[in-house]
Amino acid sequence: MRCLLPRALALGLSLCVPVVATVLVAAPSAGRAADADSIARGKYLFDAADCAGCHGGDRAGTAPSGGLGLDTPFGVFHVPNITPDRQYGIGAWSVADFQAALRTGIGHKGEYLFPVFPYTAFTHMTDGDSADLYAYLMSLPPVAQPNKPHQVNTPFGWRALLFFWRILFFSEGALAVDPARGDDWNRGNYLVHAVAHCEECHTPRNVLGALKPSMAFSGNVGGPDGQNAPNITSDVATGIGDWSVEDIQRLLKSGLTPQSDQVGSGMKAVVRGTSKLTDADRHAIAVYLKSVPPIHVDLPPPKPPA
Ligand code: HEC
Ligand code: HEC
Repeated sequence: MRCLLPRALALGLSLCVPVVATVLVAAPSAGRAADADSIARGKYLFDAADCAGCHGGDRAGTAPSGGLGLDTPFGVFHVPNITPDRQYGIGAWSVADFQAALRTGIGHKGEYLFPVFPYTAFTHMTDGDSADLYAYLMSLPPVAQPNKPHQVNTPFGWRALLFFWRILFFSEGALAVDPARGDDWNRGNYLVHAVAHCEECHTPRNVLGALKPSMAFSGNVGGPDGQNAPNITSDVATGIGDWSVEDIQRLLKSGLTPQSDQVGSGMKAVVRGTSKLTDADRHAIAVYLKSVPPIHVDLPPPKPPA
């Protein structure tokens, strides 16, 4: 047997054997530990991004096997199965395929994905984070449930037309770090934009369904369940300018507003995810949100439920 460690060699061959044996025994368990860590980090991101809110898998014993119909002005999009089933889920996808879908909005067969899948946010995710999400999804039980076809009005169902939409409204890539703002703000910026995609509900859209950047976080009429996602800019009269960082943190942890009302509608699922984050991450989101410039928009009351 060859001794790999020069120090052990200096101490004599007798010490060398146990040292090599320890290295050989330690290596595979270190590999497993790294995988378990990656899966745990992936689960954390899965909650933070509320992937379950659309794909399912938020209750114990359930997996993100899809099926939910998302009602939009363009028709109904049926959410696909993202369990590791090789036939009906993403079990045949490589980590690179998965990362490409999140970063570029292009699917396994090279098709443009509909932006109802918030890849316009996930494009900002780091490769490390998307690899962890993949590790988590691949650790789940496969579910052999076929996808339902979308029922979308012509011409919005034609994937090829997304070519033009993407030129107008999609910019791929990482978020710029602003060193002047500090770690909390930058972490919050990342969580809000790349992971938790808060703007997807809280920013109004144009007629082609793209977010209006000049109106960021100023609220959106006709959100989930016909409710409005409120103005969460720092405008005092119409936004949440009078909430403290602690008030926002409490909402993200418990769903309670400063008036001790429980948030409902689409925000309930978001809070199910943010309640599982660390206090430091909820703090970072709140610090970022407090920095959003005020926009004065008084939203009309929510539509009565159909
Ligand atoms: C707002 C709802 C929504 C959320 C949140 C969401 N997705 Fe999706 N996702 C969809 C829809 C709808 C599609 C189908 C898009 C299409 O057909 O072009 C999709 C497609 C996908 C695909 C491609 C699957 C395929 O078969 O082509 C992957 C992978 C995926 N989502 C992963 C995720 C992950 C991981 C998260 C959380 C980080 C997530 N999604 C969050 C709605 C959502
Ligand atoms: C799926 C859509 C959706 C997403 C994503 C979402 N929200 Fe909300 N949010 C809502 C809706 C709808 C309400 C209103 C709930 C109600 O009226 O009970 C709300 C309420 C709120 C409120 C309370 C505002 C008030 O005036 O009472 C805050 C603060 C808030 N959201 C912050 C966030 C943050 C931060 C994120 C990202 C981590 C986020 N939201 C992501 C839909 C969403």
